[in-house]
Amino acid sequence: MKRLLPFEIDQAVSFLKKSIPVAFPTETVYGLGASVFDPAGIEAIFRMKGRPSDNPLICHIDALDGLFLIAKDVPKIALDLAAHFWPGPLTLVLKKQESVPYCVTGGLETVAARMPKHPIALELIARFGKPLAAPSANLSGKPSSSTADHVLMDFAAEESVVIDGGRTEIGLESTVLLLTEEKPQILRPGSVTAEQISEIIGYSVGVGGEMEKKASPGARYRHYAPKARLRVVREFGEMEEGAFLMSTEEREGYNSVSAANLYALLRQADDENCDEIVVVCGENSWKDLAFRDRLLRASNHNGQV
Ligand code: TXA
Ligand code: MG
Repeated sequence: MKRLLPFEIDQAVSFLKKSIPVAFPTETVYGLGASVFDPAGIEAIFRMKGRPSDNPLICHIDALDGLFLIAKDVPKIALDLAAHFWPGPLTLVLKKQESVPYCVTGGLETVAARMPKHPIALELIARFGKPLAAPSANLSGKPSSSTADHVLMDFAAEESVVIDGGRTEIGLESTVLLLTEEKPQILRPGSVTAEQISEIIGYSVGVGGEMEKKASPGARYRHYAPKARLRVVREFGEMEEGAFLMSTEEREGYNSVSAANLYALLRQADDENCDEIVVVCGENSWKDLAFRDRLLRASNHNGQV
């Protein structure tokens, strides 16, 4: 994989035209994108990542009219949320248009859509002229990429490109909100909070729960995982000598976790060949909920890989 500079977007477009996925920065993490309407490009994304084919992709648009190319029967609440949060880290799950291939949606009748808040992502979609289906640009099951170097490490041998936009601003993936059931439901906590969503729609929104595994195939798989064993604890107790220590609160002697550095720290632990990572994670704030979601999956808490 080759690094492109931001003014070389046109080169990335020519790869997309040949059904070769390209990596690009968003405000959350780097994405690996191909045209929503190009099954060959979509297939290449799944192959490159080693991603299970039933785990659907998020479709990225650069303007609101793009939403109607991929989703139908869009409810007013979706438009209200889009008006408030887009461009930004909120993904809306809606009914899919017939033209969106099932390989993008993992066989589902729904489609996930978001407008990223990053000039390079928006420019790439605009110049290519079609929405881009793009999962996070990492090997399936590995931590997401918040720098172009992370992407280059995971896809070194691929004949593709990454547009280097520096470190991503947020570092954690978007909030995923399901809007096709009776009640809106957050399937993945991200930097847009339940409270912020509730404020716009006028009532409180559900988080996770039983719906999650059914509706969001991604929630079934072990994710974001470093090679080291990872334990999430409430307090530090007796610990193995040599463990890589992290904490979501500021603590002396520990690597303090922020949205911006979470995945970089997990990758660092692997670079240092640590056998074990121990993370203290709170349970009270929205941020802790978002960290806990990623960390429990990284620790393979739910037993599924
Ligand atoms: O911030 C982000 O969302 C990043 C950037 C690149 O936009 N993308 C990202 O994509 O994190 P990915 O593929 O790593 O995660 C997408 C999540 C998965 O958990 C997937 O199951 C869920 O969204 N998803 C996608 N389409 C869905 C659908 N139709 N119904 C329910 N969940 C869906
Ligand atoms: Mg991902």
